[in-house]
Amino acid sequence: MRCKGVFLVALLSALTAYYVYLPIPNNVEERWKLMLTDSFFRSLSHLAELSELVGLFDYMRVMMFVTFAERVVPVSDDRVKVVDESFEGVDVIVYQPIQNEDTGELRRAVIYLHGGGWCLGSSRMSPYDLLARHMVTELNAVVVSVEYRLAPAHHFPVPFEDVYHVVKYFLHVDVLKSYRINPERIAVSGDSAGGNLAAAVTQQLQQDPRNNINLKVQALIYPVLQALDLNTPSYQQNQHMPILPRTLMVRFWSEYFTSDKSFFRAMMTNTHNNPESAALLKFVNWSSYLPESYRQTYNYSAPPVAIKINPAHDDPVGSNRWLADPRASPLLVPDTTLRLLPKTYVVTCEYDVLRDDGLMYVTRLLNVGVDVTHKHYPAGFHGALMFSVWPTDFKIGRKMIDNYVTWLKHNL
Ligand SMILES: *[C@@H]1O[C@H](CO)[C@@H](O)[C@H](O)[C@H]1NC(C)=O
Ligand SMILES: *[C@@H]1O[C@H](CO)[C@@H](O)[C@H](O)[C@H]1NC(C)=O
Repeated sequence: MRCKGVFLVALLSALTAYYVYLPIPNNVEERWKLMLTDSFFRSLSHLAELSELVGLFDYMRVMMFVTFAERVVPVSDDRVKVVDESFEGVDVIVYQPIQNEDTGELRRAVIYLHGGGWCLGSSRMSPYDLLARHMVTELNAVVVSVEYRLAPAHHFPVPFEDVYHVVKYFLHVDVLKSYRINPERIAVSGDSAGGNLAAAVTQQLQQDPRNNINLKVQALIYPVLQALDLNTPSYQQNQHMPILPRTLMVRFWSEYFTSDKSFFRAMMTNTHNNPESAALLKFVNWSSYLPESYRQTYNYSAPPVAIKINPAHDDPVGSNRWLADPRASPLLVPDTTLRLLPKTYVVTCEYDVLRDDGLMYVTRLLNVGVDVTHKHYPAGFHGALMFSVWPTDFKIGRKMIDNYVTWLKHNL
């Protein structure tokens, strides 16, 4: 075991040195630092592929290295009280402000969902721990950071359901009272796959007749919002961009649903749609929902529907029953559902395969009259919010956090 570990680290260092080159757009700040950071991620990814190929560890297990490397033990300090809890059997970390005198004032709450493609990441990574503390002190808010279970050990819908159970439990009047929370000032928020979970949970909550507490806002940071079309202009334009190349995002999507590699291959060629999901392609039609400037020179063609039958399963090859589920792809709901959504903050980055997911959601929400603040970063890259800790701290990450927390301050 130990020997394997040493071998991996040695190989990783060699690969990092080898991969330091990538064409990064000129308007990106701190390009060299990003190149170095990305070369590390790409090396790790190649190492993970190799490891899976030779049967050492599977891909996501090797990629978990980053999650472990940034792991901290969240503890209380003189301003923030930190407690590990379990809500409905799901681990959460609850961060609360420590007030010197009891003003009796009720507090805000943010339920935060970390990113990592539903397969990686943890609320115990130092960037998430720091972000939670920052929100507690800046917003006088209670922050619940959810340690939902991850794929591939737990495929969809487990990660979604973990989050949903936590949110429903937390929204009980008695629970809110015990944390001294104002029920009218609660947010759900997350980045990347966490933004996906936040959007999905917010939608499901609005439609749940047993829920009588409405969220004040949802804040989605470069969210993943649909699995039907993995060839949007942003997927094409940014397929080799750091930190999230197209192959990695496709891997996350396929692992979220299944460990069947034929589904991954079908997704790679964008030929994974089945008749049920194809009927919903209209909701992710970027030729209707992207602003002209983002359509650029790309020509729309609807993803084909798989018709080849896999004799072993009697299914279209690669077809997957979760593909049409809006709890996985929140863009797939009709306008009547979108209309019910609370005030929304959406972050998109120019250099991100997921940019168009966010842009399409913004268009669709605005079309039905939802109050949306859209913050686009023309020099932004996916994952920037996570890069707030030395040595991989980026100015854009800090800027993103500042803008996000300022928005919450004014709107939550
Ligand atoms: C997508 O939108 C275009 C018009 O913007 C339309 O011609 C096309 O039929 C639509 N395709 C689907 C699958 O909705
Ligand atoms: C889109 O279609 C036009 C006209 O057919 C063509 O000139 C252009 O090269 C196409 N763009 C792409 C990115 O394929």
